[in-house]
Amino acid sequence: MSTLPIRTFGDPVLNQVATDIDNIDGKVAALAESMIETMYNAPGVGLAANQIGVQKRLFVYDKGDGPVVVVNPQILETSGEWIYEEGCLSVPGLSWEIARPNSVHLVGRDLDGNELDIQAEEFEARIFQHEVDHLNGFLLIDRLDDEQRKAAKRALRKMQIRVSPHEHDGHFQLLGD
Ligand code: NI
Repeated sequence: MSTLPIRTFGDPVLNQVATDIDNIDGKVAALAESMIETMYNAPGVGLAANQIGVQKRLFVYDKGDGPVVVVNPQILETSGEWIYEEGCLSVPGLSWEIARPNSVHLVGRDLDGNELDIQAEEFEARIFQHEVDHLNGFLLIDRLDDEQRKAAKRALRKMQIRVSPHEHDGHFQLLGD
């Protein structure tokens, strides 16, 4: 197992749609293991494969009771509304109160290929929506209202000033605080 560099805001890989995984094999399991280690190391509560540069539909998360891997996740249904302060490992140091559906019905596969069928609420539902957004090429910034977006752009401009002039593997590495 090893931790992997997390791609950050401005990296085009974060705006691309990830593709389905056809074979859930040992390579996928190894990838999931590395993603779990990377998530805990960050630390974070969720990580989508394209955040480490792999354009495959897979995310890992831990809502507080251990790591879970979801392959080919699909949100079938959402309902209600819940406002929660949301951050992202790809937009380090920033967070916004974002309104999204409160309940989510998610299906997918686990690493054995078995069907996952989870009815989630609040925090877990928020993780699902956030990670599926990643796999569809959206960042939490895309979920802000107009007012929030203006403030976000200001904050991101400030961050851009601190972006390293060196490019690593075609993506910008944000400097730490
Ligand atoms: Ni994120």
